Amino acid sequence: MARKFTEKKLVIASHNPRKVHEINNLLSPFGVEVVSAGELGLPEPVEDGDTFSVNAELKARAAAKGADLPALADDSGLVVPVLDGDPGIYSARWAENPTGSDKDFNYAMNKVRQAIKTKGINPEGQNAYFTCSLSLCWPDHQVETLEGTVNGSLTFPPRGEKGFGYDPIFVPINYQLTFGEMNQNEKHRISHRADAFNKLVTLCFN
Ligand code: IMP
Repeated sequence: MARKFTEKKLVIASHNPRKVHEINNLLSPFGVEVVSAGELGLPEPVEDGDTFSVNAELKARAAAKGADLPALADDSGLVVPVLDGDPGIYSARWAENPTGSDKDFNYAMNKVRQAIKTKGINPEGQNAYFTCSLSLCWPDHQVETLEGTVNGSLTFPPRGEKGFGYDPIFVPINYQLTFGEMNQNEKHRISHRADAFNKLVTLCFN
């Protein structure tokens, strides 16, 4: 039996203001006061797990312990089966361009294309999916972790300026537009994050 969330306050175990804003919006119907790990000055743990769920859990556990409050963390990325699951948990790391300091997703998207081509496979239309693991941890260490996905295929060159990360090369199944071209409300309705969040709400918030 899953534990229900009955507390008034929750830490979002992220230092990324965009993620905090998005999760805050998703939680707004539940009247929960939200504070971020960044605002509390909590250290960022090393993400050394080998799955999305393990990384989400270790972030949630660290924040729950540091703040002595329930904490919610997510870990997400693009999975390409023909690349044996890469970039996967390394999705952010694939955007580290040796010639720049910031994350460079044009570099990362081109790396995906080249990696598939190197296998002698046509990158166009290759299956891919986004995954998001959400982990809710209480200060007594109990944890609930849910995984959401959205299936689709890859397209090159990248299209659209609306999303972030790998959105411009990802076409969700039954759509023509990439996540980068799509109305962002529509993306947030069908995304891996929405899928994981809906599962979390069903389990812990209803
Ligand atoms: P993390 O979960 O913050 O460690 O990073 C996940 C990485 O996966 C991000 O830097 C993005 O590159 C990628 N990613 C996760 N979700 C999405 C999405 O909805 N669209 C595009 N890229 C995403």
